[in-house]
Amino acid sequence: MTKSTAGDREMTSPVKPFLIAPSLLSADFSRLAEEMRDVEAAGADWHHIDVMDGHFVPNLTIGAPVVKSLRKCTEKTLDVHLMIENPEKYVDDFISAGSDYITIHVESSKEVAGVLKKIREAGRHPGITLRPATAIEEIFPFLKLVDLVLIMTVNPGFGGQSFMPEQAAKIIRVRKELERVGAKALIEVDGGINPETAGECRLADVLVAGNYVFRNDYKKAIRSLKAAKFEGGDE
Ligand code: DX5
Ligand code: ZN
Repeated sequence: MTKSTAGDREMTSPVKPFLIAPSLLSADFSRLAEEMRDVEAAGADWHHIDVMDGHFVPNLTIGAPVVKSLRKCTEKTLDVHLMIENPEKYVDDFISAGSDYITIHVESSKEVAGVLKKIREAGRHPGITLRPATAIEEIFPFLKLVDLVLIMTVNPGFGGQSFMPEQAAKIIRVRKELERVGAKALIEVDGGINPETAGECRLADVLVAGNYVFRNDYKKAIRSLKAAKFEGGDE
């Protein structure tokens, strides 16, 4: 039974299902092309790719050459989340690699607007995100420049962490601010997503899920995340 609030119903009507973006960070890195095919067959809408530089976050993952190789393996949207210092130095590489969405952290650069505009001029979708400790207002100046707002519900750096429930309040703040300024970006949530926590994110459009998808039956996992948009939850 759906128990969303009247305010939620107004803001989500008509309710679209979540788009699901499995995070390849939790996939088997020795079989990435196969993993992509398997999650697509299981109903994935996008692929979320976590790029970490060992400076902005205390972990290293993959770079643009890997994104370029993955581009050859799929027609689906490549949703690239840059957790790197000074993304202005590398954004051209991620554009050339064939990324569709390129999301940068508001804390990571002194040239946030410039980087977002460059992504737009290249015909790709710019996105903005923030660490959990960063106030949501920090991204408000950029809302008209982006197609995606990514709300982090864990500290960026690793898969498999627990959802930070207090961060979910940022979803409604962003939804209201997008409406107020007349901007149309999608809202994505990333970190600790499972069917229970997805229920706290009903005003979002896209859910990233790493461990929950790749540590379970892919099809059942993706189906249950999509269902969380419509099933009962907390008031
Ligand atoms: C964390 C990454 C996430 C992560 C999500 O820094 O941005 O995309 O892979 O993984 P789970 O769903 O396991 O929290
Ligand atoms: Zn991510």
